[in-house]
Amino acid sequence: MERPPLSDVSERPLTRIAQVSDPHLGADVDQPRQAAALAALESLATALPTLDLDAVIVSGDVIIDDPDDQRDHKFAHNVLARLDLPVWIVPGNHDVGDHRVRAGLPPDWHGAEVTSVRVRAWHALWGRSYWRHDVPGWRLYGLNSQVMGSGLAEEADQWSWLHLELGELLESHPSTLVAVFMHEGVIAPRMTPPRDAWMNVPTDSGSALLEMLGRVDLRLIASGHTHRHASEETMGIWHVTAPSITGPIPLRPDMLQAIGHREPGVLVYTFAPGGFTFEFMTTEQHGPQRRFYC
Ligand SMILES: [Fe+2]
Ligand SMILES: [Fe+2]
Repeated sequence: MERPPLSDVSERPLTRIAQVSDPHLGADVDQPRQAAALAALESLATALPTLDLDAVIVSGDVIIDDPDDQRDHKFAHNVLARLDLPVWIVPGNHDVGDHRVRAGLPPDWHGAEVTSVRVRAWHALWGRSYWRHDVPGWRLYGLNSQVMGSGLAEEADQWSWLHLELGELLESHPSTLVAVFMHEGVIAPRMTPPRDAWMNVPTDSGSALLEMLGRVDLRLIASGHTHRHASEETMGIWHVTAPSITGPIPLRPDMLQAIGHREPGVLVYTFAPGGFTFEFMTTEQHGPQRRFYC
């Protein structure tokens, strides 16, 4: 599909959204990891006025480790509530639990499995784990990747909701472009991992999602989880993974490694009618490192 260059759309309304991923916040801020997470969010809060943003999307793993630690959830909720912008959040494996099968992940890193109790606890504190927001020329969907392939009632609810949503979009605004934000993507950019690899949603769920989204003009699937920034365009769809704002996953020889940049930072998207761009900004510098035109 032909996309206009940025110069063709720069006169039109723009929406700038930061994707913040994998902060892994915890209430015990005297611990080094949790102190680093809080410092990263405070750094972002300080920089917000200079970034000219309309909203922040947090793509999961807001909690440091244990999805059942309500003290950590409340602490993270308070930290994110202090950002002076609309904040739209989807949960990660450390927030509501993980999939049953995680190829390439060391067994001792396989966390608690996703359950209805954990998803309902998320809904009670954070609100519904899937959502939509409209910006000029675009419809943005947030999805709970963690229920995909689980067989839970919450998975069926999300599929039903998305099916109805896409039908309505096709009926009323067929030319609207679509972006999806979730914790885990459907492909690992620039690599071919084994089936049901740890960095993506379960393979069958990813295929089902792409088939469902094939009805609309999907341009972007943005995810986190790998703590690495990478991107790949496949059949007109950009698959983009965001780095963690706090830091990379420690390297282990028995773990299948995703491809991408490990520096902590955020991605800033500019959505315009007809196209979008994204920039990788490091947490420390808040300066653009690379720019992609789509
Ligand atoms: Fe993470
Ligand atoms: Fe994750």
